[in-house]
Amino acid sequence: MDEITVRRARVDDVDAIFSLTNMMAKNGYMLPRSKYKIITMLMGFYVAEDSEKAIVGCGAFTPLWTDMGEIMALAVKEEYSRVGVGKKIIDALIAEGIRLNMKEIITLTYQVEFFKKMGFVITGKDRFPRKLWRECLECPKLEECDETAMHYFPKEGKHNGFRTIQQSRQDG
Ligand SMILES: CC(C)(COP(=O)(O)OP(=O)(O)OC[C@H]1O[C@@H](n2cnc3c(N)ncnc32)[C@H](O)[C@@H]1OP(=O)(O)O)[C@@H](O)C(=O)NCCC(=O)NCCS
Repeated sequence: MDEITVRRARVDDVDAIFSLTNMMAKNGYMLPRSKYKIITMLMGFYVAEDSEKAIVGCGAFTPLWTDMGEIMALAVKEEYSRVGVGKKIIDALIAEGIRLNMKEIITLTYQVEFFKKMGFVITGKDRFPRKLWRECLECPKLEECDETAMHYFPKEGKHNGFRTIQQSRQDG
């Protein structure tokens, strides 16, 4: 495999992120996002690039509230799948969560086995207050969401079972 570097995204990555995430959206893995949407999320985006500086993967960390952030728009080009690119991006996104002092990182995904390998565990969607489900309001599936909610507690370096947000706050 080429040497893969993961770094924070820049404005000149927007086209590549747009084309990668929308290709994944066409295959049903995620919501399509406009370039405008990607630009508004850009501060949380990381990209993986190969030795020729071509973008081969991306992912974003978005704060939802003071104690919870979400991993979104994770995508790795098919030619580069299963060689560790996704894990490198997740490591960068979790590091960003830690930098922000985030207690809990969640994701909504069809890639349950991948996220289990990253230390996430399945949790209930109902644990999350509706005010946090910003992107879900743009999704045609909304109430019929068939993705799995998973979470990770970065400070502990491992998942933390089924603690509630309330408990996390009390433990503050
Ligand atoms: C999910 C995705 C990001 C994984 O990226 P990747 O670069 O192939 O993953 P990695 O090579 O870093 O895999 C890390 C580990 O997870 C495993 N893994 C990866 N995808 C897996 C899958 N679908 N099922 C089971 N295990 C998987 C790998 O075998 C590897 O295990 P190991 O550490 O024991 O060797 C990529 O397949 C993808 O872009 N999928 C489509 C978009 C998508 O669904 N994104 C998620 C939106 S939340």
